[in-house]
Amino acid sequence: MIRLVDVHKSYTKERETIKGVSFEVHEGQIFGLLGPNGAGKTTLMQMIATLMKPTSGKIEIDGLSGDKDLLEIHRKIGFLTNEIKLDPMSTPNNLFNFFAELYDIPEKELKDRRDESFARFGITPFADKKINELSTGMKQKISIAISLIHNPPVVIFDEPTNGLDILTSKQVTDYLKELKEKGHAIILSTHIFSVAEELCDEIAILVDGKIAAQGTVGEIIKQADVESFEKAFFKIYVENHIE
Ligand SMILES: Nc1ncnc2c1ncn2[C@@H]1O[C@H](COP(=O)(O)OP(=O)(O)O)[C@@H](O)[C@H]1O
Ligand SMILES: [Mg+2]
Repeated sequence: MIRLVDVHKSYTKERETIKGVSFEVHEGQIFGLLGPNGAGKTTLMQMIATLMKPTSGKIEIDGLSGDKDLLEIHRKIGFLTNEIKLDPMSTPNNLFNFFAELYDIPEKELKDRRDESFARFGITPFADKKINELSTGMKQKISIAISLIHNPPVVIFDEPTNGLDILTSKQVTDYLKELKEKGHAIILSTHIFSVAEELCDEIAILVDGKIAAQGTVGEIIKQADVESFEKAFFKIYVENHIE
C-alpha cells in the first residue's frame, strides 16, 4: 500500500535530512518509525502524505504517485500531525461538517460516522464547545476523528500519543489496533519505544535520516544481541548516531 524507494530529502544544500530510506507497508499492518527528535520522522511522514516532495527517490500509495495522482492519493490517506492546529474558535461539530463537505461525504453517512466516532472518543458532550476550551487530549481525539472522516485505507499518524495522558493514549492505541484488524495500512511515528513495541508489526529505527535497523521487535532484539527492546534501541542508536 505504501512504498518508499531510496527517498532522499535535503532542506538545504549543506545538509541531507533523509538519506536514502526504503520500506513497504501492507494492508493490515502497523509499521512504526521509531527515532529520537530530529531523526527525520515528521519529514518522512509529510512526504508520504504528499505535503512535501522528496529531493530524489520514489513514494507510492497503492501504486499512485504524488506527481500525477494527488487528488486520488488524498482520498486514500488520513494524515495526523501535531504541526497542524485546529481552528481555536471553531467547534467539533463545525469542523466535522467542514471536512465532510471537503470530502463529499453524503449527509446520512456523515451523521452515522460523526455519532460513532464522537461516541467512541467521548467527544459528544463537547460537540458544540469552542476548540480553545477543550483539553489537549480532547483536541487530539477530534483531530484523529477528522483525519479519518473519509475512512481512508492508508493511515499516517505522526506521534499520535504525544502529550496524552495514559487513558487517552490507550484509547488511541486501541483504535489503531482496530483499524489494523479492519485491514487498513498504518504507519505511525513515535519516539516512545513502548508504543512501538506494543503496536507495531514491523519497526524501522530511524537515526539521523537513515534506517539503522528494521524488523519485528524480536528480530531487532536478536540483531542487536541484547535482552530487551529498550537495550536494542539504545545500542543501535549509539552505533549509528553521528555527532
Ligand atoms: N522546514 C525545515 N527546514 C530546515 N530544516 C528542517 C525543516 N524541518 C525539519 N528540519 C530539520 O530536519 C531534521 C529532521 O526533523 P524532523 O523531520 O522534524 O524530525 P523528527 O520528526 O524525527 O523529530 C531536523 O534536524 C530538523 O531541524
Ligand atoms: Mg516529528
